[in-house]
Amino acid sequence: MKVRELLKKVSENKRDARIILSHLLGVKPPELILLEDREVPEEVVEKFNELMEWRREGYPVAYLIGEWECMGRTFKVEEGVLIPRPETEILIEKTLERIPKDRNMVGFELGVGTGCISINLLLERPLLRMEGSDINPKAVKLAMENAKMHRVEKRFKVFLGNGFEPVRGKVYDFIVSNPPYIPEKFWDFLPEEVKREGYSSVIAGKKGYEFYEEIANESPKHLKEKGFVALEIGHDQGDIVRKLFEEKGFKVRIFKDYSGYDRVVIAERWS
Ligand SMILES: C[S@@+](CC[C@H](N)C(=O)[O-])C[C@H]1O[C@@H](n2cnc3c(N)ncnc32)[C@H](O)[C@@H]1O
Repeated sequence: MKVRELLKKVSENKRDARIILSHLLGVKPPELILLEDREVPEEVVEKFNELMEWRREGYPVAYLIGEWECMGRTFKVEEGVLIPRPETEILIEKTLERIPKDRNMVGFELGVGTGCISINLLLERPLLRMEGSDINPKAVKLAMENAKMHRVEKRFKVFLGNGFEPVRGKVYDFIVSNPPYIPEKFWDFLPEEVKREGYSSVIAGKKGYEFYEEIANESPKHLKEKGFVALEIGHDQGDIVRKLFEEKGFKVRIFKDYSGYDRVVIAERWS
């Protein structure tokens, strides 16, 4: 069967079908159009049908192919670890704007997940070093695998542990985080696909902004004099996160995402 015929048989999840088939054929999705008349080997057709069946059952396409893109770079993903989101690229860009190319800086990331934030920063800033923590052993393992894949493992240290606990007494030039920010009462209503990313990946606590409270309280102890904090936030959390950081003496700026929602907070120390 030809590529064109195989794709024609798909009636739903058409975009995902292209992603899955291009993955199985070892090409990028936009390149598939060049292969439309190519014969698909029987074993690939079988695997494609199997993965599309999983997809129909609600399994995220990123987990089916085992990888996902962030800032145009590929990261390994596994069930139970957050799949990189497009909004997080805004956090990465806003953080990069504050890391001069010629400075030896050290940053800390709370909740590394796949490592997509720290690793992108490290690839863009060769003098940078990053440390990070995650409470999920699977995320720690995956972040290190991704660091090796992108050859930045010598500049990236990841600790298994709760928040800032693994780095007590250490100070950094900046702290970056896309922490869980959904209130726990919403867990039951989340789509099954999101639930597969794991409770601790998305759920913060009763209020949803518990991690921002922790970061606002802890970061003054962990930041150098002119350090900054860069955070991804939920679309309705701008006001509360601004207040939390202003109370601690930070100067706060909020940036919007592509849909016009508050999405990234930059909190700078005055002194
Ligand atoms: C929303 S995900 C972000 C993952 C990744 N940084 C990204 O942007 O794709 C939040 C991460 O925080 C981790 N996490 C949750 N609670 C934590 C805690 N108490 N200490 C450290 N990490 C935690 C989760 O396991 C998850 O990997």
